[in-house]
Amino acid sequence: CGIIGYASPRSGRNVRDVLLDGLSCLEYRGYDSAGVAVANSSIAVHKREGEVSTLEDALPDRAPDGYAGIGHTRWSTHGQPSDRNAHPHTDCDDRIAVVHNGIIENAHTLRDALEADGHTFTSETDTEVIPHLIEKGLDRGDDVETAFRRAVDRLEGSYAVAAVCAGHRTIYATRQQSPLVIGVDGGRYFLASDVPAFLEYTDDVIYLEDGQFAAIRPPDVEVTDRHGGLVETDVETVDWDPEDATKNGYDHYMLKEIREQPHALRKCLRGRVDAPGRSVSIDAVEAITEPNHVHFVACGTSYHASLYAARLFRERGMRATPFLASQYDLDAIPIGTDTLVVGVTQSGETADTVSALQVANDVGATTLTVTNVVGSSATREADHAMYIRAGPEISVAATKTFVSQQAALAMLSSAFSGECTREFVTGIRALPDRIQSILDQSRAKAIAAEYADADAYFPIGRGSNAAAALEGALKIKEITYKHAEGFPAGELKHGPLALVTDRTPVFAIVDGDSEAETMIGTLNEVDARGAPVIAVTDCPETIEPHADHVLEVPETDSRFTPILATVQLQLVSYWIANRLGRSIDKPRNLAKSVTVE
Ligand code: G6P
Repeated sequence: CGIIGYASPRSGRNVRDVLLDGLSCLEYRGYDSAGVAVANSSIAVHKREGEVSTLEDALPDRAPDGYAGIGHTRWSTHGQPSDRNAHPHTDCDDRIAVVHNGIIENAHTLRDALEADGHTFTSETDTEVIPHLIEKGLDRGDDVETAFRRAVDRLEGSYAVAAVCAGHRTIYATRQQSPLVIGVDGGRYFLASDVPAFLEYTDDVIYLEDGQFAAIRPPDVEVTDRHGGLVETDVETVDWDPEDATKNGYDHYMLKEIREQPHALRKCLRGRVDAPGRSVSIDAVEAITEPNHVHFVACGTSYHASLYAARLFRERGMRATPFLASQYDLDAIPIGTDTLVVGVTQSGETADTVSALQVANDVGATTLTVTNVVGSSATREADHAMYIRAGPEISVAATKTFVSQQAALAMLSSAFSGECTREFVTGIRALPDRIQSILDQSRAKAIAAEYADADAYFPIGRGSNAAAALEGALKIKEITYKHAEGFPAGELKHGPLALVTDRTPVFAIVDGDSEAETMIGTLNEVDARGAPVIAVTDCPETIEPHADHVLEVPETDSRFTPILATVQLQLVSYWIANRLGRSIDKPRNLAKSVTVE
């Protein structure tokens, strides 16, 4: 879910437009319903099931307007998507409006008690207990801030909460394991789950910490700790370009982000492998004692980056194991104080990954997060952070963050092992140009046109290309809604071959350096079942006789072939989804950042 807030010292300052623009930027966090509330002498609440554009169409002209407003875009965790369950939620008298991200674990108990006290609820959400708790405080004679604090004190779980009250120009906000950042622009303030929501207005931000409260009352903002003590805050400037958060002429963020990959990678590499010499320097690594065992914990695309990374670490002689964060279980997996647990998460907010880091911290392991988002929950949880510097990624399907994660993790493997050959440095530094040449010449669009009506797609690869095959399949699934499954190529004959027909194209990643011979055998097996074979390869001459089509990738150190192959498969999935008219940037049922376990 996404939260936006805006408070200006003067009324009538386009509160409505700021909230709607912010919500559009936050739609990637959830888009099954949206709503806004603006405080004047009373509170105007408008909310709708559906996308932000549905809400916008339903709003009266130039309304609502006022001093302080909050908005929300929702991805359901409690209750179906509906107008009723959309945020903001209000109390019985509509004095208070509240938006919330996260999960309130004791909502049932609180709701039972409030209902017994005579409060009437109108939604099925856990959030609605908050305005009712605040109302209870106001009825007791508390001022709004005290009532807000006391209400939050009663909550168990994870939350970012913002509230406005009729007759007050203030936004009250707090967070616990869910992000919230304040944008500062002279005397006016923004509040959001993520910086892009207000980046067009300001890049000066205050990151709220867990347990802190903010009273945003233009021209001032007051941040306090959980006991009410005043907290000195730093205003930081983020180095994101507002252009990063727009489509910039592309039909979809996804295509824009695929095309931004060379630029993203240059930023990721900058200052880390710049020198012509042979060294990789990563600040976080210098502070970490050499681990005995490295665990990677991650979900979805980030898990595929972890599969790739663990293999690189092992090739360099280190013990390294990838885990799905949701399966990282203290009872089953030995974690010691000499274990380094690396949480790989582009958003830094994935609840499964943040919890796995917590588990590791609890047993005294060293923790590191590799993430794209400064100030995210993972960076707060982990002892150390390495940023992939990909810039905001809006499309739900991860693309530029994936290749940046892989490059970052490849550098990490070199920094930890102290092994940095000329081939490695040359190979990684050449990645941006090599990806550019794929983007300039790819035949993925034509392949997609030919196979858009296939029954299923099976990407395969050997060694570290298996991770690229799994990621290729995930991309196809996410945005085309078609069946796709990635396999280590050697496994095909142990079962999946039964699924292969003339309606199931097989995308085979073939690295000429190490595996062409074995892969040719696999391709012949696939061909014998009549399946179209599309080879993604750096050795087209060798493979062409065994494939129906070739998507070429430049030759490189074979450790980087999976990164290049990924780009071709991203383009294939994009163009298939485009041909099928799918909602590419916001695929059904998915959210960019899943903040529940
Ligand atoms: C969600 C998204 C996936 C993503 C995963 C991990 O499930 O839909 O596309 O790969 O979260 O996200 P993270 O932010 O932790 O990398």
